Amino acid sequence: MGSSAGKRAWCRTFQAVMKVGNYFLPWRIPETLSGEDSVLELPDKLKAAGHDSVLVVTDESLMKLGLPVPMLNKMKEMGLNVAVYSSVQPNPTDRNVEDGFRMFREKNCKAIVAFGGGSPMDCAKGIAAKQAHPKKAVRQLQGLLKVHKRIVPFYAVPTTAGTGSETTVAAVITEEKTHHKASINDPVLMPRLAVLDPKLTQGLPPFITATTGMDALCHAVESYTNGTYLTHLEREYAKNAVRLIHEHILAAYEDGSSIEHRQAMQWAAFYAGRSFTRGCVGYVHAVGHTLGGLYGVPHGLAMSMILPCVLRQYGEKVFGRLAELADECGIQGRSDAEKAESFISWIEETNRKMQIPRGTDVIQDKDIPQIIAWADKEANPLYPVPVIWGEDDFRTLLETLRKQA
Ligand SMILES: NC(=O)c1ccc[n+]([C@@H]2O[C@H](COP(=O)([O-])OP(=O)(O)OC[C@H]3O[C@@H](n4cnc5c(N)ncnc54)[C@H](O)[C@@H]3O)[C@@H](O)[C@H]2O)c1
Ligand SMILES: [Fe+2]
Repeated sequence: MGSSAGKRAWCRTFQAVMKVGNYFLPWRIPETLSGEDSVLELPDKLKAAGHDSVLVVTDESLMKLGLPVPMLNKMKEMGLNVAVYSSVQPNPTDRNVEDGFRMFREKNCKAIVAFGGGSPMDCAKGIAAKQAHPKKAVRQLQGLLKVHKRIVPFYAVPTTAGTGSETTVAAVITEEKTHHKASINDPVLMPRLAVLDPKLTQGLPPFITATTGMDALCHAVESYTNGTYLTHLEREYAKNAVRLIHEHILAAYEDGSSIEHRQAMQWAAFYAGRSFTRGCVGYVHAVGHTLGGLYGVPHGLAMSMILPCVLRQYGEKVFGRLAELADECGIQGRSDAEKAESFISWIEETNRKMQIPRGTDVIQDKDIPQIIAWADKEANPLYPVPVIWGEDDFRTLLETLRKQA
């Protein structure tokens, strides 16, 4: 059982070529502003860069909370023309992208500022990709290197500490008609600048703090256990992220007002994002995206539930790498196997303390073939996962998730 020898050979050959190809891509790291009220420095940056008219992309809940208001006021005080597109849904859709792009064009904007979690950031990247290819549907831009053209100046202000979209080349968009959730992946989507202002995440509810933080952990762990495409930089970033999350996630969950823990989680998400954007994610994301697209399961929640299940299913293939991550966190064990087990137990225990369920009953029998087809297509051959799965392995994972619901 498992994947066929032919499939494994094809995937590993593709990945060997991709590893070389990666050295020719223009990987960047966005400039960062960090610290309390750093978001108020952004309008000066925009002005200095000569952008007189910007589209701010955010969501309704954030508008209701008034979170973008100080930044918007400062932009207006500085004489910038500001249009706000605030109808982004969680798990943003192609329709959100089209609507936002229409506003961008009608208001004659010259730059985009994404303000929010991964949903507004990804929608904003989608708008930027559309601006480069107005005649193409979002679906046609999904995949690898389909934008391939300079985009409008793009700035990101994350208000969750999770997706790392502020430092990734990906925009994950769901097609409204089919519920298919897929990524646009292109280095041109890397933001110019990311603002890590801890005050913006102080009001994040504990459950969203928990699940988005686990999403960041997932990025670091999947990237690190994949290994193949990483350079020293991404390996160190993944380790830093895991160490910071181990140290700060529970504290941020329990005391959301702490600037120290909030800022640490923002750096963790940033490092994890920059690590996985080159190193790729794995089956946790590939399966998790289908649950987001089909059933609207929030991304971070899907990640938190699926991560320990996938790591257990990978088995001894990941013991060595998980043991290295355990060492980074000071998690003890007498062998790699023991350390890996303790590392996975730490994830499960942390989930439990943060009231995150271990599984889900949303998965419908009739959807299973579609879930497997989409997850397989997303991951293979691009993601250099430690173990290449066949259909039965995906089924095992889905069964585990249902059993643990
Ligand atoms: N581009 C990437 O590299 C990448 C990586 C991982 C995930 N994603 C995508 O990102 C999306 C998920 O993003 P997310 O997990 O950040 O969630 P989100 O952006 O959907 O936000 C979740 C909820 O939290 C609220 N919220 C956000 N910030 C808040 C704050 N400071 N205070 C109070 N409420 C706040 C939002 O209004 C929303 O209701 C998914 O679509 C996922 O696929 C993208
Ligand atoms: Fe993610």
